[in-house]
Amino acid sequence: MPPASERHTRPDVDGIPSGLMVGKTVLVTGGSGGIGKATAIGLAAMGATLAITGRDPERAEAAAREIRAVGGGQVRVFTGDLSSLAVVRRLADEALRTLPRIDVLVNNVGGFWGTRHVTPEGFERTFALNHLAPFLLTSLLLDRLLESAPARVVNVASNAQAHGRIDFDNLQGERSYTQRAYSQSKLASVLFTYELARRLQGTSVTANAVHPGVVSTSFGAEDPNVLQRRLAPLMRPFMKAPAQGAVTSVYVASSPDLEGVTGRYFADSRPKRSSKRSYDEATAARLWQVSADLVGLTAGG
Ligand SMILES: NC(=O)c1ccc[n+]([C@@H]2O[C@H](COP(=O)([O-])OP(=O)(O)OC[C@H]3O[C@@H](n4cnc5c(N)ncnc54)[C@H](OP(=O)(O)O)[C@@H]3O)[C@@H](O)[C@H]2O)c1
Repeated sequence: MPPASERHTRPDVDGIPSGLMVGKTVLVTGGSGGIGKATAIGLAAMGATLAITGRDPERAEAAAREIRAVGGGQVRVFTGDLSSLAVVRRLADEALRTLPRIDVLVNNVGGFWGTRHVTPEGFERTFALNHLAPFLLTSLLLDRLLESAPARVVNVASNAQAHGRIDFDNLQGERSYTQRAYSQSKLASVLFTYELARRLQGTSVTANAVHPGVVSTSFGAEDPNVLQRRLAPLMRPFMKAPAQGAVTSVYVASSPDLEGVTGRYFADSRPKRSSKRSYDEATAARLWQVSADLVGLTAGG
């Protein structure tokens, strides 16, 4: 019997035509577990060809088998820890070599750490994994998305964005590290989504952000804070199963109703306003520039 967090991984896609995604290739980061695996299963059920990423080869292959069992097609697996920018670059290279088209990129991977961790490349891990990795991966795959257009970028953010503030003087918790690192990173996801949508105006590639809800997964389990340690076991029965948590990602990745819809934030498969700060174009432009510098891309790249 799989653990509770892994049960019910197939989103309820009733009412969405099962062949809707036939001929489309979808890359889901973190497709080896949690919401990402359920997203991959939901899109495979609609006929999409899937590619997933995960850190652990065995776990990723096991997820690929589950996805294949639903979709029937080939599932490509890319393995590596996306909090390393070198790994992001390697995975992007592998994806470009093996995926002739990418119709949808779901930047799903994200993490929470109760204490500050620094990656071997010297970045604070929350900022690196939740913001720099999708920023760099999307940039490196953008030409393939444009060639495959109409195409979509779906960034899995969180309602935590509402409490976020981009502190350019403490972007990586150098001065102080609190759980605000997570809300900052999720605000960064939304700012990135909106800035990307603006930069892609006039193309047929859209960029939208989603909030999956509060979902029972392995999220935050590596280094939970005191609140999570106390509350998670009590809250778990009331949390969404991964399949329910994937519904909005699947909807935004696939719904014909969203053709051409870009620069929006979705929760419960409906557009929702994100925080006032997330619409600040000057902050978005500055964050883009800072991120491009940090990941080694020229500004605007
Ligand atoms: N769960 C919630 O309540 C909730 C609420 C709001 C937003 N979100 C967002 O939803 C997204 C998915 O979260 P989840 O709840 O599904 O979390 P999860 O269960 O921790 O996600 C698991 C997936 O992410 C991969 N992953 C984790 N860290 C990674 C890393 N450093 N490099 C590469 N892959 C990594 C895992 O790979 P392995 O198989 O190798 O472990 C697995 O595929 C995140 O962006 C999260 O911020 C979640």
